[in-house]
Amino acid sequence: MKKRILLGLSAAIVAALLAFFGPDLLGLYRLDRYISASTVAYDADGRQWPHLTDVCIGCHGVKGNSQHQAYPSLAGQPAPYVAAQLHKFASGERPNATMGPLAMTMSETEINHLAEHFARQPVGDNGHFTPDAGFLEKGKQLVVSGGCAACHGSQLMGHDQFPRLAGQGYDYLLAQLDAFAAGTRSESTGMMKGIATTASPEERKAMATYLASLAPQK
Ligand code: HEC
Ligand code: HEC
Repeated sequence: MKKRILLGLSAAIVAALLAFFGPDLLGLYRLDRYISASTVAYDADGRQWPHLTDVCIGCHGVKGNSQHQAYPSLAGQPAPYVAAQLHKFASGERPNATMGPLAMTMSETEINHLAEHFARQPVGDNGHFTPDAGFLEKGKQLVVSGGCAACHGSQLMGHDQFPRLAGQGYDYLLAQLDAFAAGTRSESTGMMKGIATTASPEERKAMATYLASLAPQK
């Protein structure tokens, strides 16, 4: 009970912080100081809650289960994948106006703490998504015939450097497939570019619909 009240309070504080800081650079500088201070506190209290992951709640949801289709859920995402993405945001290899400056402020220790924390969180259903029936069937065919499970895992829950796709936000998934197609996001196997460019914009919507509608295996 006490924890729940604290959690509620923490979410309110983060919301207030985000409203106050806004997306500008000064805000990110303050956010950096907040993250550093939180990390010190996190280590000092034996890594007990609350800690630096509070900063992420406003966009990625409580315990990394996002309530918004455009913000990715981080819960249950493999730790090596999360750490790799934070490095890619920091280096600019994966350009993003929000995550880039934020990741740049993180130390190696902070990146590892964050990655391990989110990998451990229980994964929730993508309950706020209502799939289009036509896209759903088409998307299922494309995902099965496209062999996505070979890399993303038999249940599309991800492992190692391969992200979980099952139950991820629709707008986020579609934006990533479009980014691979446009070349603004890339990965070393080149597979994602091939998949995204071969698929038409409608087919990308269909794949995102099917993946977003999948119940994550817990
Ligand atoms: C102001 C909103 C905001 C905050 C705060 C925020 N993020 Fe993000 N994050 C985003 C957005 C938007 C994306 C999607 C970026 C894209 O489209 O490439 C993202 C993407 C990510 C990804 C990539 C997910 C994937 O599946 O590839 C990771 C990892 C991540 N964020 C970690 C974090 C962590 C850890 C924190 C807290 C320290 C955090 N974010 C705080 C908005 C935010
Ligand atoms: C050869 C391996 C491979 C196959 C097959 C594959 N992927 Fe991927 N996919 C990856 C890798 C690696 C990444 C992470 C890229 C990175 O590090 O930025 C990825 C990332 C993604 C992302 C971004 C997820 C996120 O959280 O940001 C989506 C969406 C995606 N894949 C969809 C698919 C779909 C749909 C298929 C099947 C049609 C598929 N992938 C098949 C390797 C693969």
